[in-house]
Amino acid sequence: MERIGNWRWYEFASLESTNDKAKEMSEDAPADEFVVTAVKQTKGRGRRGREWLSLDGNLFMSLGLTCELRYLGQLIFVVSLSLLEAIKKLGPDLDVKLKWPNDVLVNGKKISGILLEKGEKEYIIVGIGVNIKVAPSRDEGLIYPATSLQDVGISTDRLDFLKVFIQVFDSNLAIWQNEGFAKLRSTWLQYAKGLGEEIMVKLENEPKNGIFNGVDDNGMLLLKTKTGIEKIYAGDVFYKEENK
Ligand code: BTN
Repeated sequence: MERIGNWRWYEFASLESTNDKAKEMSEDAPADEFVVTAVKQTKGRGRRGREWLSLDGNLFMSLGLTCELRYLGQLIFVVSLSLLEAIKKLGPDLDVKLKWPNDVLVNGKKISGILLEKGEKEYIIVGIGVNIKVAPSRDEGLIYPATSLQDVGISTDRLDFLKVFIQVFDSNLAIWQNEGFAKLRSTWLQYAKGLGEEIMVKLENEPKNGIFNGVDDNGMLLLKTKTGIEKIYAGDVFYKEENK
């Protein structure tokens, strides 16, 4: 075990899913933060039961931390904003945007994903995949186009990125704790793609169209429709130009 800042860090050569390993480790962990990474991930999981294509050279990590359940909606925003800021540190001129609830886009294409799951005891497991060296192609069944840091001209490696991310995340956790969610949410919204524009949200069954009007205190998407403002808890967002 090594440390990155306050985090205990465990690196594995190969895992089915870093989230599963982190869950298992949370059973015996003292209630402090830890991070699990794997050089190879053979059964990566994505949101909503999808597969996460885990290509060699990319970053697969799971954070184990404690967070009251009622703040989970906010935690996702702190994590995704930190990913965006870490990418901006490496490439200040890149066009980086956030897509509700938790994707980071570079040049409009998905570069990272977050999967939040419940661990053992008080733990929450925050699984994060970042395309560092290579992006899966759309023939591989992706619903969104993807890119990687290498594709956009940033040469870094998974562990350098991990360290930058942890540093940014720690400083955002401190802001969250000391100043509350409002400031982080307003920074998040500055980078939100499609704010004030028409979007389509695919829920379990039906698609819903409306204007992306912001996010509430629990991180829910506010969608302005003909009948008023609706709060959306989960779904996949598509922008007008994507015409899906
Ligand atoms: C998404 O669908 O956008 C979320 C993807 C999350 C992928 C990461 S990779 C590390 C961690 N382990 C997993 O099995 N999934 C997450």
